[in-house]
Amino acid sequence: MTESDAKTFLFEKNPFPTAVSDREAILQNPGFGRVFTDHMVTVRYSEGRGWHDGRIEARKAFELDPATVVFHYAQEIFEGMKAYRLPDGGAALFRPDANARRFRNSALRLAMAPLPEQLFVESVRELVRVDRDWIPTADGSALYLRPFMIATEVLLGVKPSADYIYCVIASSVGSYFKGGAPAVTLWISENYTRAAPGGTGEAKCGGNYAASLAAQAEATREGCEQVIFLDAVERRFVEELGGMNVFFVFNDGSLQTPPLTGTILPGITRDSLITLARDMGLAVREEPYAIEQWEVDAQSGRLTEAFACGTAAVVTPIGKVKGRKHGFTIGDGGAGPIAGKLKAALLNIQNGRAPDPHGWVDRLF
Ligand code: PLP
Ligand code: COI
Repeated sequence: MTESDAKTFLFEKNPFPTAVSDREAILQNPGFGRVFTDHMVTVRYSEGRGWHDGRIEARKAFELDPATVVFHYAQEIFEGMKAYRLPDGGAALFRPDANARRFRNSALRLAMAPLPEQLFVESVRELVRVDRDWIPTADGSALYLRPFMIATEVLLGVKPSADYIYCVIASSVGSYFKGGAPAVTLWISENYTRAAPGGTGEAKCGGNYAASLAAQAEATREGCEQVIFLDAVERRFVEELGGMNVFFVFNDGSLQTPPLTGTILPGITRDSLITLARDMGLAVREEPYAIEQWEVDAQSGRLTEAFACGTAAVVTPIGKVKGRKHGFTIGDGGAGPIAGKLKAALLNIQNGRAPDPHGWVDRLF
């Protein structure tokens, strides 16, 4: 399959779809990542043949040999994006081209076969069209899409796999944080780092998340919702959370976010918020920020807000930061006005309630 025949997916409707009444009950309160739609996309790759056998069919289990590469060497990448309901009942994706590009970059970093970007975008569009009844309508809810790719060669030798399966599944979601938490408490990871220079920090590969879980478990034990990682070299500069980027807001109205130097994920929400903040006339710096400075600035009042952002988390205010050597509250510990303004601006574009001056909205129907 090439860019030009990207629309070629064999479609086989799920003969046993979820009953309408069951689906409607599920959509009342879907949580995050627990309920799945009736279909999935698969496309296969093998060396010599390239991408082939594109399908949209009933969501079902894979049958894989126990010696399949992905089980042993974690050659796996994924994406996270959402389809949003529009006021007229239609639906749209948000910047799917950016996810396609990042997926390609992740594939190259993990020495996997890069999927043509147009094929990625079409696969996601088609799945949303097929499973359109699963897009929730409640405020803040969406259909979360999870494109991913696994190495499927059967081999214990360590080398890039010759075979891959690309797959897209979809999950109706509400808020990522239980009860839509107004502000979260972060745990500063001092024992663990997430990514080192030259590593895989800027790739969206499953291994990064596996490596973050011990730190996240430590955060949970310490009564915090999320972990925040410091840079692996100096162990001083704030990088990002396990699954979200971070922004700081100052009393002069300016914003700061860690720069993309290869160890953090280049978030599409991060990029969009930088643009929206600048549209609002706010200055945004992409510069390193040290943890000691964060504490000093929070205590002096120079720092007025901080927030996490990502597809799943949208914009989530950070109320408190804790660690073995640190402990401080940001502002009054609740949601700040700049985070609120940026969140509303982003959601209004995504949900088609505001004009789309940057051409980010990809209407599907
Ligand atoms: N950082 C990490 C580690 C993530 O997993 C995510 C989520 O995808 C983000 C940042 C935010 O990226 P995006 O805004 O593209 O969802
Ligand atoms: C996302 O925001 O899409 C993520 O991938 C974060 C997390 C759910 C892994």
